[in-house]
Amino acid sequence: MLGKGDKMRLIITDDFQEMSLRAARIVAGQVELKPDSNLGLPTGSTPLGLYDYLIKFHKEENLSFAKTSSFNLDEYYGLGQNHPKSFYQFMKENFFQEVDLPQENINFLQGRAEDVEKECYRFENKIASSGGIDLMILGIGRNGHIGFNEPGEELKSHTHLADLAPETIKANQKFFDSEEEVPRQALTMGMGTILKSRQILLMASGKSKSWAVKELMKKRVTTEFPASFLRVHPRVILLIDQEAADRI
Ligand code: F6R
Repeated sequence: MLGKGDKMRLIITDDFQEMSLRAARIVAGQVELKPDSNLGLPTGSTPLGLYDYLIKFHKEENLSFAKTSSFNLDEYYGLGQNHPKSFYQFMKENFFQEVDLPQENINFLQGRAEDVEKECYRFENKIASSGGIDLMILGIGRNGHIGFNEPGEELKSHTHLADLAPETIKANQKFFDSEEEVPRQALTMGMGTILKSRQILLMASGKSKSWAVKELMKKRVTTEFPASFLRVHPRVILLIDQEAADRI
């Protein structure tokens, strides 16, 4: 458990379903309180249940995203939006096409941008000129990465082109037919981009995340464990299931 003075709020749920439902309630509350919220969204296995619940709330309880904007954390470098394995397609299939979020409010990094630096700058500027991200939803890599900010000697503050760590390539193979197919680079929000969000909701589920969750509990900040930078943020909710909490 977290000590006194710790800013992170820890919620441990029984399982993935309960974690997803709790997360969906938090996101729905944000959108109800501020319909024109800017949401930061992740892909991956972790948010799938959350997206299912949000779709359910939209269809059954009239939760509307008509005034909401979204900013996805990252996109594979070299994959166009129509590529079946792009993060854009993932979001379209698992969330966007099922809710009333207007197309023009969806903000995505372009994986096939000719000028990568310009593209990162455009995205960073769009977040800033839209008023910043109100609620940033995050998953966590088994190695402690956030977005594609991988462990190393240094971290980049702004949106940039990143090399995927070997363990991330392995982990993301689940979405491809083979490891060779997983792109080696991605455009990603930087740690500074993420930390500028007003509120952060980090989700983790399953035993494979228990080491990362344990590391996150340590009271130190290091580039060798990028998620540790969340400790400097004043409003972080750590929403994890029992298996991910196994080692704390
Ligand atoms: C996804 C992203 C990644 C994932 C992380 C966990 O947009 O930025 O940092 O959140 O790799 O992935 P899953 O949820 O598949 O375990």
